[in-house]
Amino acid sequence: MPQEQSTYYVSTPIYYVNDEPHLGHMYTTIAADVLARQHRLAGDDVFFLTGVDEHGQKVQQAAEKRGIAPIELANQVVQRYETLWPELSISNDDFIRTSSDRHKKGVHAMWQRLLDNGSIYKDFYEDWYCVPCETYWTETQLKDATHPEKENCLNAEICPDCKRSVEKIQEESYFFKLSDYQDKIITYINEHPDFIAPESRKNEVLRFVEGGLRDLSISRTTFSWGVPVEDDEGHVIYVWIDALSNYLSALGFPEDTENMKFWPADLHLIGKDILRFHAVYWPAMLMAAELPLPKRVFAHGWWTVEGEKMSKSKGNALRPADLLDAYESDTLRYFLLREVPFGSDGDFSHDALKIRYNSELANDVGNLLNRSLSMLKKYRDGVLPAVTDEQSGDRALIADVEAMQREVAAHLENQAFHLALERINQVVRHGNRYVAENEPWTLAKEGNDTRLNTVLYHLVEALRLIAVQLSPFMPVKMQQMLSQILNADVNIETLRLHEVAGWGLLQAGHVCQKPSPVFPRMDA
Ligand code: MSP
Repeated sequence: MPQEQSTYYVSTPIYYVNDEPHLGHMYTTIAADVLARQHRLAGDDVFFLTGVDEHGQKVQQAAEKRGIAPIELANQVVQRYETLWPELSISNDDFIRTSSDRHKKGVHAMWQRLLDNGSIYKDFYEDWYCVPCETYWTETQLKDATHPEKENCLNAEICPDCKRSVEKIQEESYFFKLSDYQDKIITYINEHPDFIAPESRKNEVLRFVEGGLRDLSISRTTFSWGVPVEDDEGHVIYVWIDALSNYLSALGFPEDTENMKFWPADLHLIGKDILRFHAVYWPAMLMAAELPLPKRVFAHGWWTVEGEKMSKSKGNALRPADLLDAYESDTLRYFLLREVPFGSDGDFSHDALKIRYNSELANDVGNLLNRSLSMLKKYRDGVLPAVTDEQSGDRALIADVEAMQREVAAHLENQAFHLALERINQVVRHGNRYVAENEPWTLAKEGNDTRLNTVLYHLVEALRLIAVQLSPFMPVKMQQMLSQILNADVNIETLRLHEVAGWGLLQAGHVCQKPSPVFPRMDA
């Protein structure tokens, strides 16, 4: 029965092109990909957006250092992303570049709406600016921040966020009346308890907004690499106004396109450092433009590497290409989402990855698949028998699989990837216990065919449903696993839960393949 299809729009931040892709960029994009795949599996009409943030002083300076034009630098880095994403099985529906005409058109339309609604005015600006963060700071904010080296020593020239030097800026500028939105944003956050996640981040935003909102300077005259203000060409639109608009420009805004049905976005996935832009500035802009607000903003934590902060100077930033040389893409996808709760900071260590892979994937999932299909081959020549003697232990396995399916969906609605994976792993462990308890080899020896048939059927059917639930996380591996079970070239992209998720869909007489290892053990 065809039901009304829900839309689902998930986005990543657009990544700055002054830097190579690193682990942090991979992380958000993999998380978004899992959600996109899981919603497609559930039958939703999905729009998954990622892209690059090409403008701003930081990019212009990085290009100057290399002696190339900003657009050349952007083109080079875009290529990196365009090769990387398919290698990580990223299934984005679109890739937005802020240098594209469609994006600039959206930015201009946004600006015009803000202007028409009286939310933009021109004035003079004098303040401190942090180029690496593309963030403005007031004198007071800088004074409040503590110097990193000397405790309690006030230093007015260091960015409170990144602790690097800030520059004094004085120029004519357009302003956005952010101060008008202080109460509106507080009310909105309180009335929409799911808008900002995790909870601790929501409180952080509330405290920030309660501290008072100043009008925001939204144009620059000191550099040129950006979207020019129309009719005032000396002014370039502030890179965050430009960047945030990508979530709409990619849909075709301001045109009334087919894709505008995806707005408001269901979820903006971001890192914790850019929460204020997404949970304060962006909502205020949208309110001013009389557009609906995204339903949810989730700020994930940051990764350290072997216990240390990733940084260029330390040279320990994990490069996706090196990681992909060392591990399969699905292994990385699994580890990143399983190792730490999505909102928390985490540490990437090669040992931790190998331990998790060997115990949860090789020993648990891989072993259950191998032993089940081997026994089916050995005792029934690969032919799935009919269930003739279902007992309470068998029914408990079915109930566990069915509860798992519901709970995984609920965990993913909360972006609790680690809990979703842990819940699937519980069923895998249940399956391995079920083998130990039923001892199919003894049933075979005793000639207890009715029990042996029942046990073999339940194992294979449970494995099939486990693979379906794991498929958004590990599309390549689960394609292999399902192909062995279904004895067919499975296209993971076209699976739909309403067609595949019911217990008992595998028919007696179906022939499974001989197992071949999907998760071979890794050397420690
Ligand atoms: N261009 C802006 C985003 C604009 S969105 C409208 C930007 N780009 S960025 O390339 O600097 O950062 C992109 C993302 O990478 C951020 O969400 C940030 O949190 C994330 N990460 C950067 N380092 C990280 C880690 N060490 N760990 C996890 N994520 C990290 O900001």
